[in-house]
Amino acid sequence: MPIHFQRKNNRFLLTTKNTAYAFDIGAGRYLVHTYYGKKGKEITPFSGAPLSYAAYPESLGANWNPDEIPQECPFFDSGDYRISALRIEGKDGTGVTDFVYRSYRILQGRRDIDGIPAARVDEDTKTLEIKMVDRVTGCELYLYYTVFYEDDVISRSMAIKNKGKVPVTVARCMPLSLDLKGCDYHMISLWGTHNDECNIQRFPLHHGTQSIFSRRGASSPQHNPFLALCAPKTTETKGDVYAFNLVYSGSFLDEVEVDQQCNTRVQLGLGSDTFAYTLAPGEEFTSPEALMLYTKDGLGEMSRLMHRFVRRRIMPAHALQPHPVVLNTWEACYFDIDEATLFAFAEESAKLGIDMLVMDDGWFGARNYDDAGLGDWYPNPQKFKNGLKSFVEGIHERGVKFGIWIEPEMVNPDSDLYRAHPDWCLRIEGRELLLSRNQLVLDMANPAVIEYLKASYDKTFGDVGIDYFKWDMNRHLAAVGSPLLPPERQKEVTFRYMKGVYELLDYMTTRFPNAIIESCSGGGGRYDLGMMRYGFQIWTSDNTEPYARIDIQRGALLAYPAATMSCHVSDPHEDMKSLDFRYKVAVGGMLGYELNILKMSDAVKQEMARQIAEYKSFAHVIRLGDYYNLACPYEKKYDAHYYATENGKELLFSLAECEGCKAGETALLRFRAALPGVTYTDALSGKAFSGDELRRGIRLPLTGEKHHATLYYLVAKD
Ligand code: DGJ
Repeated sequence: MPIHFQRKNNRFLLTTKNTAYAFDIGAGRYLVHTYYGKKGKEITPFSGAPLSYAAYPESLGANWNPDEIPQECPFFDSGDYRISALRIEGKDGTGVTDFVYRSYRILQGRRDIDGIPAARVDEDTKTLEIKMVDRVTGCELYLYYTVFYEDDVISRSMAIKNKGKVPVTVARCMPLSLDLKGCDYHMISLWGTHNDECNIQRFPLHHGTQSIFSRRGASSPQHNPFLALCAPKTTETKGDVYAFNLVYSGSFLDEVEVDQQCNTRVQLGLGSDTFAYTLAPGEEFTSPEALMLYTKDGLGEMSRLMHRFVRRRIMPAHALQPHPVVLNTWEACYFDIDEATLFAFAEESAKLGIDMLVMDDGWFGARNYDDAGLGDWYPNPQKFKNGLKSFVEGIHERGVKFGIWIEPEMVNPDSDLYRAHPDWCLRIEGRELLLSRNQLVLDMANPAVIEYLKASYDKTFGDVGIDYFKWDMNRHLAAVGSPLLPPERQKEVTFRYMKGVYELLDYMTTRFPNAIIESCSGGGGRYDLGMMRYGFQIWTSDNTEPYARIDIQRGALLAYPAATMSCHVSDPHEDMKSLDFRYKVAVGGMLGYELNILKMSDAVKQEMARQIAEYKSFAHVIRLGDYYNLACPYEKKYDAHYYATENGKELLFSLAECEGCKAGETALLRFRAALPGVTYTDALSGKAFSGDELRRGIRLPLTGEKHHATLYYLVAKD
């Protein structure tokens, strides 16, 4: 049983294949966290805390000190002075609540989260529901623990029902709150900016709070919602790691506090100061889902567990099928789109084995530059004389599929949409509109906007065979206000905005079931589990310079599988070595090209055709395989990693030399996933290696040359 209530000690015990998670009902009313870690260890109840100046109900006795007790859901200003998981402001305006345990249920599957994506469950998944009640506000609180047994993942979410007689406001809602013993941890997260996403940072925790967050209305490249805590000596292959993530794409807060007793509290959720949500009597609020996992086997195993979970539970099922190799028009054409050029692109693409032409920005409304047209989702009649349908048929006739760019959430002031509905963008009465890239943000919290977008896309794409949408978002939210909502509900806008985005994503995937969605936000600005639930892969970065890409991709791979990572080869400027290097870096993820194919020499095109055929022979290993990180450029001056199929019979290895690599030196490479007693042959060079030798480690000579990379596709002989 993955969920068990032990009556004798009032304990809830959740187990996955390798981990256990426990909490007790303390003092007959509160939830006291007792364990998270390796399965099979003895769990002892929390045994009282030293006295401090904390305050608490006298009836709970001298040993009850909320400020030091590990809690499942700590409440604001309750005598626990650490960060709180919940702050609800009722009619007394204080934010104080005192939720008391009432009952539990074990649900088959899970409870749906209203309008927000969540991890997929199957017939074996079970969810523990805990009910708590606050006497003064009359609110009911439901805590949900969904156990993904085989995946070693537990998710948490919460729901608040206002059963009282007056409105309450949820001002902080952190569905995941975990108290860990000790504070000797390193925190690992991904930070960045446009063109430089997914930098890995790792630092020791300090007393006080440390946080990563977004208040931008998108999960953002500045901080990704993924977070890990590990023991200080943790390496790729050894050490305790706790990893966390949110299935959500909007503003968020991940916060970690080290307290006075040197213990650690981790929280994930909606804690940004741009968030609050008012519940009228009878209304209910459900939080996004947060995930956690534990492994004792280091960062490599953490990534592999996360990757498997994302592939199995987050990405749409068709994401496991081969992804098309695309030619994207952006870096070749920018806004300068015309039918004749794109037909020629399609013809050349088909000859090289490219599967799909993706027409990027510039095809709609008066979109000749970034200052007009957003919101007018009809094809520009000057550019498509016979309409979009006939154009797309022309592309299909030339032997490739067709993808198209959209940026649904935005509007240019110079657009028919804005002229007709100036009140459909986020705005605050009396304040200046804040532009970024000449665009305003549509009020996705307004149902009329969502209906308009649905109708536009229905009309424009309804009878056109679109195979792929690239869904972009090129600015963040600022000076957020919805003309539709009253003042006391304005802090709901960013949350309601995300629900609007998800509703439209849901519509697009249902209305166009055969089309796949690539998510993008000026590159990897919304690289999160919420978007991945709909979009099967993400445009990792606008930066296609291969050395920069090595770092960005290695960062993304820490938390997300290669199948989510769109990697394009951009113009190598007739330098064949550069072309080779760009390709070998791009096969870290899902391969595509982003160059003017008509300007490439025959030599480049021939090489591209060879690359594409080669890539298709091993793409399944990258898409579905386990990721093993061998070396990082900051430590070794080269990047080395491989993917391994589940049965260990195919390994796809790549090593890219970076600045500082020296000729005459060698790289020692150990393939832990290789099978002993088996011979592997590199299908690309014909070289043979024994599995035992691969496991012990092979030495690869380095060249010290610029643009030098090595690829092996090692296949075991049966
Ligand atoms: C930003 C994206 O990251 C680019 O790939 C491209 O689609 C442009 N937007 C188009 O405006």
